[in-house]
Amino acid sequence: MSETPQKRLYIKTYGCQMNVYDSERMADVLRPLGYGVVDDPEGADLVVLNTCHIREKATEKVYSELGQIKLMKERKAQAGGRMTIAVAGCVAQAEGQEIMHRQKAVDLVVGPQSYHQLPELIARAHRATGERLSTHFAADEKFDALPAERQVKGVTAFLTVQEGCDKFCTFCVVPYTRGGEWSRPPEAIEDEARRLADQGVRELTLLGQNVNAYNGGGSTLAKLVRRLAKIEGIDRIRYTTSHPRDMGDDLIEAHGDLPELMPYLHLPVQAGSDKILKAMNRDHTVESYVKLIERIRAARPDIAMSGDFIVGFPGERDGDFEKTLDLVREVGFASAFSFKYSRRPGTPASAMTGQIDEAVKAERLERLNQLLDEQQKAFNAGQVGKLMPVLFEKAGRHAGQIVGRSPYLQAVHAEGAESLIGTIVPVRIESAAKMSLGGVLESSAVLETA
Ligand code: SAH
Ligand code: SF4
Ligand code: F3S
Repeated sequence: MSETPQKRLYIKTYGCQMNVYDSERMADVLRPLGYGVVDDPEGADLVVLNTCHIREKATEKVYSELGQIKLMKERKAQAGGRMTIAVAGCVAQAEGQEIMHRQKAVDLVVGPQSYHQLPELIARAHRATGERLSTHFAADEKFDALPAERQVKGVTAFLTVQEGCDKFCTFCVVPYTRGGEWSRPPEAIEDEARRLADQGVRELTLLGQNVNAYNGGGSTLAKLVRRLAKIEGIDRIRYTTSHPRDMGDDLIEAHGDLPELMPYLHLPVQAGSDKILKAMNRDHTVESYVKLIERIRAARPDIAMSGDFIVGFPGERDGDFEKTLDLVREVGFASAFSFKYSRRPGTPASAMTGQIDEAVKAERLERLNQLLDEQQKAFNAGQVGKLMPVLFEKAGRHAGQIVGRSPYLQAVHAEGAESLIGTIVPVRIESAAKMSLGGVLESSAVLETA
């Protein structure tokens, strides 16, 4: 029987997986103070918005959400209660005090490296004395001060191993919001991974803004992955996001010989024109990217490639954009994310000449998405008839259905008992859509696990 939490904590997460991980960790920090997570902000004692600054739209969403939360805070106050509003994440880091000026209902602002200070910041907000803003950069302090205990639900978990970025792509805010590259020591990561495995986690996704630049304790990501793969119970390992320039030979090799390392790689390229890549300060060319993929595919021929793309970067002409389409055709992506360039204050690209019209960006994005969608559908359709090991994660939408993931990160639906959740089962794929696959459990597997 679970106790009713004394205090209600609502956390809303925007942005990347690093924020998803951080939100879980904020809940861990607050649990000993009597906060239990709820899924409705109305009436909550503490509302945390864990924000993203990457594109203008992401930032604006936060302010409109704050407008809604403010009304809830007023309703709660009228009823004699108190709601505390905290803004965390990358908008907190980038805009700091300004947030409290723009939305007076906000009680405190906490940057991504300061979550261990949440209890103190909340106490100060309640006493209405002292600083209610903490945005200093010291990633090591953060991880040392977070509780070792992590409560997770489910069979897959994120695990942050690296934070920050020193690459300074000219369009990107991350180096400013998350600070420089920093890696956690391998011992601390292994310890966290073991605790997760003890709670039933079978698949780890190692996270970092530049996860393949991981160098904790003089190690490499490949060494770390091999170390974690030995942990009893951990059967699958993924990692994201990688930079082409940090893709080490040993990591490529690991894709070839380590069965726990899943054949899926998110390796953003951003654009297909060398002129644009140079202006973006990406430090790779189209050719070096293509060669790199060839080497990865030589090690692991069935690897599913994923990427990020930006269209309408300043100075991008029609011919440059066509080269992005050419590159997509040449590589073939199993999935991808594409964005219209968004001008971010303080980044070098925002001051460049040759900013592109919104209508042109929209048209390019549509063309690119069309091509990427076709590739994704074709990739999924190519799995029909195959037998795949699926890690089942949860019950499906209708009774008797369970949902899991293929090695290539595709969602797979099948009819099966909920007792199969948390197990890896061979599934014969029978149908494919853009976002998911459908299949039937191989009968031998049903017999074995019945
Ligand atoms: N560290 C990762 C991801 C960073 S953010 C990497 O290097 O790839 C995720 C994606 O958001 C980026 O890959 C990029 O495609 C996109 N992005 C970042 N800044 C952007 C901007 N100003 N406008 C549009 N898209 C942007
Ligand atoms: Fe941003 Fe570039 Fe760093 Fe990725 S590598 S986080 S895109 S600056
Ligand atoms: Fe957004 Fe910050 Fe992640 S800007 S994408 S939440 S690192």
